[in-house]
Amino acid sequence: MSQAYIKIAAGTYRNQAISNVVFPLIKQFTHGAKGGFVTVDGSHMFGEGKEKIRITVDNVMSYQFSDVDAYIAQGAAPKETNLAGEVVPVSTETDEQVMERIGARFEILHEMTKAACDGNIRAMIVTGPPGVGKSFGVEAELEKAAIFDRISGKRVRSEVVKGAVTPIGLYQKLYHFSGKDDVLVFDDSDQIFFDDLSLNLLKAALDSGKTRKISWNSESSTLSREGIPDSFNFRGSVIFITNLSFANVKSKKLQEHLMALESRCHFLDLTLDTVRDKLLRIRQIANTGELFNDYDFSQTQQDEVIEFLFENQPKLREVSLRTALKIADLYKSFPMKWKEMARVTVMKA
Ligand SMILES: Nc1ncnc2c1ncn2[C@@H]1O[C@H](COP(=O)(O)OP(=O)(O)OP(=O)(O)O)[C@@H](O)[C@H]1O
Ligand SMILES: [Mg+2]
Repeated sequence: MSQAYIKIAAGTYRNQAISNVVFPLIKQFTHGAKGGFVTVDGSHMFGEGKEKIRITVDNVMSYQFSDVDAYIAQGAAPKETNLAGEVVPVSTETDEQVMERIGARFEILHEMTKAACDGNIRAMIVTGPPGVGKSFGVEAELEKAAIFDRISGKRVRSEVVKGAVTPIGLYQKLYHFSGKDDVLVFDDSDQIFFDDLSLNLLKAALDSGKTRKISWNSESSTLSREGIPDSFNFRGSVIFITNLSFANVKSKKLQEHLMALESRCHFLDLTLDTVRDKLLRIRQIANTGELFNDYDFSQTQQDEVIEFLFENQPKLREVSLRTALKIADLYKSFPMKWKEMARVTVMKA
């Protein structure tokens, strides 16, 4: 629900008179000892910590509904709640500015991945909501970097590991990709963040010292069978791709662990926090013509899919590039009734 605003004609807050000031409304008039009060966000007038104050008023006639423009006109910055439940300033960006901001972040994703392939960045954590193109962006750069190795039949110096990895599996991967130009990507392998042994291996592998020695401290027939030593120097790069919001992790112990890892890594948050950001990301990729590459759609058909997403946004289960592709699938298979099908499959009941 959108934020309501009221303009208080006459009221008082801690003996200070309030006259003709617009506030974000938190709770309507409530009867109190003398007259009553309304609860508002008073932070623009009284500063931080005053996000919820009671202004004494005589009755409901002491204020009237107002709007966000009147609030801004007072020099106040409106706020809203984002997908993560945090209260943040309301966006005043235009669509073009949003797409520019998001485009710039993805540009950084490409440049940093390239730098990892060149051995210039030893670790990076990429975070962002599902289905916005994190994996796609990283993989595109790895592929580019691997072209020459593939043509000349050399070993490809990067690998994307998806899903679960055991500690010994991690040790093995690190060993096989321990060269200076090697890149290991852990995509949606969040389990390694929750495992002490794995995390300690990573902390050693990504430390900022000159040599990064990793050891496996117990007997392992698996390692000896494969001829993997029980310690080696790691000189490669690692990229983590995750949906995990590091800032919102509850467990204190895990938080400390993650901080130790974060401290060793470049951290790239793709900041697609609002539904609008995500819709505009979809439009941005659709505009490149690449999103629907495999569908042989006319421009009109592409536009129809995007329009359908924008129109039905509040009802969608998920707003992501994947949702756009699912709708495109339906369009292709059921040209006569794709909207009907999409309403059932990609929307909330
Ligand atoms: N720049 C792009 N051009 C064309 N298609 C893209 C582009 N970026 C992403 N896609 C497509 O969008 C879909 C979702 O992208 P991707 O898998 O990279 O998302 P993600 O952010 O890694 O999501 P998750 O966190 O769920 O893994 C994929 O099918 C991918 O092929
Ligand atoms: Mg992914």
